[in-house]
Amino acid sequence: MSAVLVTGGAGFIGTNFVRHLRRLRPHWPLINLDLLTYAGNPENLQDLAGDSFYTFVRGDIADRDTVASLFDRHPIRLVVHLAAETHVDRSILDPERFVRTNVVGTYNLLETARRAWKDLPEAAGCRFLHVSTDEVYGSLGPDDPPCTEASPYAPSSPYSATKAAADWLARSYFRTYGFPVIITNCSNNYGPYQFPEKLIPFVLCQALEGKPVPIYGTGANIRDWLFVEDHCDALLKVLETGAVGETYNIGGNQERTNLDLVRLLLRLLADLRPGLGDLESLITFVPDRPGHDWRYALNTEKISRMLGWRPQVALEEGLVRTIAWYLDHQEWLARVRTGEYRRYLEAQYGRAVSKPRLTTGS
Ligand code: NAD
Ligand code: TYD
Repeated sequence: MSAVLVTGGAGFIGTNFVRHLRRLRPHWPLINLDLLTYAGNPENLQDLAGDSFYTFVRGDIADRDTVASLFDRHPIRLVVHLAAETHVDRSILDPERFVRTNVVGTYNLLETARRAWKDLPEAAGCRFLHVSTDEVYGSLGPDDPPCTEASPYAPSSPYSATKAAADWLARSYFRTYGFPVIITNCSNNYGPYQFPEKLIPFVLCQALEGKPVPIYGTGANIRDWLFVEDHCDALLKVLETGAVGETYNIGGNQERTNLDLVRLLLRLLADLRPGLGDLESLITFVPDRPGHDWRYALNTEKISRMLGWRPQVALEEGLVRTIAWYLDHQEWLARVRTGEYRRYLEAQYGRAVSKPRLTTGS
């Protein structure tokens, strides 16, 4: 029976997607290839250890022999490519590994799959789903219409530039070789298992410890937010029913300024965990991110019209579920906030985030 290769399956979206597939397609043999960088956590999927349809492989997508040997050993017909370096602030501090993983790694996967699949009949149903981001479209002004799949690319950060490069490589494989690639561009995800360097889990960690919650610039920048389970649902739908060579935007249609989002999050946290004190007073404005994109917004008519997908989880409901998950998984949080994490915070924020401002009940 053919197998699905998921890359980056020990990261945030990957963990949620692997769980989604095990639940909905339990008889698909699934290989999870993940390098286990700081962002990958094997503990997330430990309970699948006894599942005979699930195989975990620790390895680098940019390593030719590793990827080639997986295609030699397993009848891989589907690839869901999530592995990437993903944090904009880290890409500003250290861009090199973004080029290696996001560009070279994607190239290596595309090329290995192309060689493995080139003599297979169309009926083999091969599909390569390349998972990308809305950040490739660059920054929008307050009155610009949301980006469609035809909007030009204008990436700003080393992260989004390397994702854009990978998207174009993937597109070129369809145009040049007829390789069965599909691309998705998604807005900001949130939910369980997200590494606490990204805005939402970072704010939760800081607030639970009564520490400053840093907001870049004025907090007026706008992001569109999507609950991760909705993203997983869209990815499976695209994988099974999307057209090869196409691109689909996936978004939540939930645009908020960072300041409004953080205030909402802190209010919901205070409701769920009373006794934490005046959480809003933790908000601290810090110097802006260099090249900080003002606004992202996606037009998602194509995926809803062509594939019948729509987000199901409203922002407030998704945030409540996310907060509840982090409150229930404080040991998980403690384990991922290692020495590496503390060194990163020091490099990114200096001392601005380290000292408690409130004495909390937690
Ligand atoms: P993440 O940082 O949480 O996880 C990335 C995973 O990739 C980790 O498990 C890491 O160990 C693994 N990895 C990194 N380098 C690797 C390498 N060289 N070889 C193999 N594995 C490697 O990322 P995420 O937030 O889950 O994002 C997953 C994908 O979705 C990325 O491609 C990202 O660009 C895209 N995306 C994310 C968001 C978001 O809001 N998180 C939004 C849109 C698109
Ligand atoms: P982030 O979660 O890093 O996602 P992205 O940069 O990929 O959108 O950040 C979301 C927004 O929150 C972004 O506009 C930057 C801002 N932000 C802060 O204001 N303070 C922070 O400490 C972080 C991590 C992000």
